[in-house]
Amino acid sequence: MNTSDVRAYYERNTRLFLALGAGGRARAIHRAVWAEGVATTEEALNYSNRLLLEQIAHLRRSHPGQTLHVMDLGCGVGGSIFYLATRLDDTLHATGVTISPLQARLAREQAARLGLQDRCAFVEADFLQLPELPPADVVFSIEAFVHAPQPARYFDQVAGVLRPGGRLILCDDFLSERGASNARSPDERMWLRAFQAGWHAPGLSSVTQVAQMAARHGFSRVGERDLTPALRLLNWDSRLIHALIRLGRAIWLPWAYWRSTVGSLALQQCLRAGLVTYRFLIFERNR
Ligand SMILES: C[S@@+](CC[C@H](N)C(=O)[O-])C[C@H]1O[C@@H](n2cnc3c(N)ncnc32)[C@H](O)[C@@H]1O
Repeated sequence: MNTSDVRAYYERNTRLFLALGAGGRARAIHRAVWAEGVATTEEALNYSNRLLLEQIAHLRRSHPGQTLHVMDLGCGVGGSIFYLATRLDDTLHATGVTISPLQARLAREQAARLGLQDRCAFVEADFLQLPELPPADVVFSIEAFVHAPQPARYFDQVAGVLRPGGRLILCDDFLSERGASNARSPDERMWLRAFQAGWHAPGLSSVTQVAQMAARHGFSRVGERDLTPALRLLNWDSRLIHALIRLGRAIWLPWAYWRSTVGSLALQQCLRAGLVTYRFLIFERNR
């Protein structure tokens, strides 16, 4: 699995994800988080964006009046950037990076529609090999880090763009300690493989592994939220989901959307079994 596979996956699926998934209106290609106080699907889809906004507002208070540059690595069609830019004044500038040319184009078109093109830029690039970009005060990735075939390289690249004292936020799936250990049954191993294959997720790592990689690149973990309990999982019988995954893998049609659906079912099993957790991790680049 490499970045050109991920590019092809998003080139083929982005329009389908937006049309068939719940995230179309929020321009989100990520999961809804039904945390306490969340009442609508749109609020649930924007929950991770709301947590980002809180982080940026916090940084804002220590740098009043100063222009902040935020960078979204794996920005999809720009939903998170538009959420932030429409809630913060024009001292917020943002750059979105995506491996998909289609996503970059859709995001630029939306920026122009919203009149945000002067402060929201979208770049088609590989976040494991970033081009020259202005330094950032906050870097974040929502459900994108897991796609990195070499996760340590992600931190190497972020260390090159994030200012000392700046924050790096990862909202993603992570292996639990048991998920990362050898104490998994054959079925559990199959679910993990099906999730990683269907979702192009070679970078799936545990929080401990991620914190170690981050520390080697000069980042300290300063906060963490476990959002797993706020995900709404399918309430289908686990044996039915298991049978559908097996069937999906046996047929394994060469359609990206098919494989992604099998991956989604497998992820449901992994979350239910406590092999995978969905977290919001906050790191600070050491000064
Ligand atoms: C699940 S989508 C999430 C999109 C967006 N963060 C959101 O929440 O709507 C994953 C994103 O990661 C991007 N991505 C994956 N690997 C990448 C890479 N190596 N370089 C840049 N972008 C990448 C994809 O293009 C896609 O935009």
